[in-house]
Amino acid sequence: MMKPDAINIRGCRLLDLPKISDPRGNLTFIEGGAHIPFDIARVYYLYDVPGGAERGGHAHKALRQLIIAMSGSFDILLDDGSFKQRVHLNRPYFGLYVDTMVWRELDNFSSGSVCMVLASTPYEESDYYRDYDEYRQALEHRV
Ligand code: TYD
Repeated sequence: MMKPDAINIRGCRLLDLPKISDPRGNLTFIEGGAHIPFDIARVYYLYDVPGGAERGGHAHKALRQLIIAMSGSFDILLDDGSFKQRVHLNRPYFGLYVDTMVWRELDNFSSGSVCMVLASTPYEESDYYRDYDEYRQALEHRV
């Protein structure tokens, strides 16, 4: 697992979540606004992902997210228009915070893996950039 400061993509970072270790089983908790830098408006999760499948392939105008490998592992390719970085998530007590205007692609899902996403806003299709060229153009026109 990478060190929390090892993410070089604008605004993104790996968050070390609270972990209560217990011989009966470990426990991790997340409070919106306290352990992550936004209030949680939505939770969704990817599961039953077939081998070789790719998810994501978009950026968001306003949405901020925390991505957690609840079970198993997968890779996230982050791209802020200047740098690209591949992050492997495989522990439920690490969360990858993904800031606005960061392109992400998810792949390399292990069998039975579950990807949970905590999101700062409800689902809104108009918040997506699904076309990479359109995303790059929007970045260039940003002040
Ligand atoms: P999408 O965000 O493209 O999935 P991923 O990035 O994980 O590959 O969403 C896939 C479909 O699900 C798309 O039709 C929109 C729908 N969807 C919702 O209706 N609500 C949601 O909260 C999310 C995340 C997706």
